[in-house]
Amino acid sequence: MPLHVTPLPPALSSSPSPTSAELLDFVRRTAADKELVDSLPLDPEGRTWVRLDGPGGSEAWLIGWPPGTGTGWHDHAESLGAFATARGTLTENALAVRLPAGGWKTLELADDLDRSRRLPEGTGRAFGRHHVHEVLNESTDTHAVSVHAYYPPLPLIRRFSRTGPVLRLEQVERPEEWQ
Ligand SMILES: [Fe+2]
Repeated sequence: MPLHVTPLPPALSSSPSPTSAELLDFVRRTAADKELVDSLPLDPEGRTWVRLDGPGGSEAWLIGWPPGTGTGWHDHAESLGAFATARGTLTENALAVRLPAGGWKTLELADDLDRSRRLPEGTGRAFGRHHVHEVLNESTDTHAVSVHAYYPPLPLIRRFSRTGPVLRLEQVERPEEWQ
């Protein structure tokens, strides 16, 4: 009997517009691909990343997070997405609010908008358009690795700083500047 090698199953749909559930399925399956996850070069000094082919034309990344690193607050404009932790544990702090599209520099947030969740190895989450969050590896000693997918491919990312309840728009980046 020849050895039968099974590739990753194809995405659930060949639709050109994958749903967030399909992106979540993709990032979970990819995060479970030990060979791929192990292929990511890790750098104790900073994040590392490899571009992946996401389903349905989505933008996908494999990202390594040294202890203590994070993204800072940002959103993904009109893109929806999903991410899953392949190694270690990530923390996501998110805002349960849709920010105004533009024409503002600072916003004062109501006091009940903060949401925080921990995503240990093997777990993931999907998010819709205009999702605002920061993702962190709060571990002091363990590198984390995660898989992310976005659709449509990210046109831009708005970066924010946060001082208590005040959110300030700092800059707008294209994804090639984002990593
Ligand atoms: Fe993000």
